[in-house]
Amino acid sequence: MKNTVATLQQQKLDGDKITMLTAYDYSTAKLVDECGVNTILVGDSLGMVMLGYEDTISVTMEDMIHHTAAVTRGAKNALVVGDMPFMSYQTSVYDAVVNAGRLMKEGRCQAVKLEGGASVCPQIKAITEASIPVVAHIGLTPQSVNAFGGFKVQGKSEADARRLIEEAKAVEAAGAFAIVLECIPAKLAKLITESVSIPTIGIGAGADCDGQVLVYQDMLALFSDFKPKFVKHFANAGEVMKQGFTEYIKEVKEGTFPAAEHTFKIADDIINCTNTEANHENRKNYLRSQSSSEGMESRGAFRWISSHNGLSSRRTQELDRQSGKGK
Ligand code: KIV
Repeated sequence: MKNTVATLQQQKLDGDKITMLTAYDYSTAKLVDECGVNTILVGDSLGMVMLGYEDTISVTMEDMIHHTAAVTRGAKNALVVGDMPFMSYQTSVYDAVVNAGRLMKEGRCQAVKLEGGASVCPQIKAITEASIPVVAHIGLTPQSVNAFGGFKVQGKSEADARRLIEEAKAVEAAGAFAIVLECIPAKLAKLITESVSIPTIGIGAGADCDGQVLVYQDMLALFSDFKPKFVKHFANAGEVMKQGFTEYIKEVKEGTFPAAEHTFKIADDIINCTNTEANHENRKNYLRSQSSSEGMESRGAFRWISSHNGLSSRRTQELDRQSGKGK
């Protein structure tokens, strides 16, 4: 059954941990969905793990719509959240509603996520009022990497910790139905989780959040540029993929792939005939070009070459007759 905003809310009430993973394409979304994840985030982290940028700043609305649409085609049960990229909502409340609408209409996601606290509450309110559910995102908000001076843990000072609690309450009041808490101390995340009635989903925020999210390339060891402290490798898919690629290269070089079972068949009499006719045509073309440049008598030379290549003159005549070229 399709997970909804109400499912996640109920999970918080029941103490049933919410699972969220990122996905950016149809096949991965299908796999993640089949494993029973509650919600899939098409994160703007795709800029780093899919497109190779050093941060998420360059990700566009077009990138997000393209990948979100692929994910929603693969996710049957998981609630899909599309991430709003840098400058798609900060510029104005109007832009925020228009772009959230595009993500939902064209990407077919069931909710959107945007980064920031009090400063984006007008946007959260307006998007929510347009019937588009919003996930807020506070703590380390990667789109603000340049303002933060790097990817750093947030909320370590008393003032910052207090500010984050206030921001969580503010985004809840503005209408957000869940909050991602990124890279904040575990005890602060616990306090925030207890201070709001909407679910918190942590990444680098300890075990006391209502749910957890990870970037799938991180948790499968597919992304090797760096490994944040909060990432656990649940499988080494990177190694498995490399083994597969290496084996493929070896077998192609050796000629052991493709084997008979990967190959399509044709009846011997058809291929023998086709082969002979193809040779016949090739030789004729070759001889035509020779005769025009060297003044050879093409028919005679053709018969000479045919016989030296095992094509009897009787067979040549038969082929000529069959194709109507022997007259
Ligand atoms: O873009 C993303 O993947 C995210 C998660 C890290 C929460 O925002």
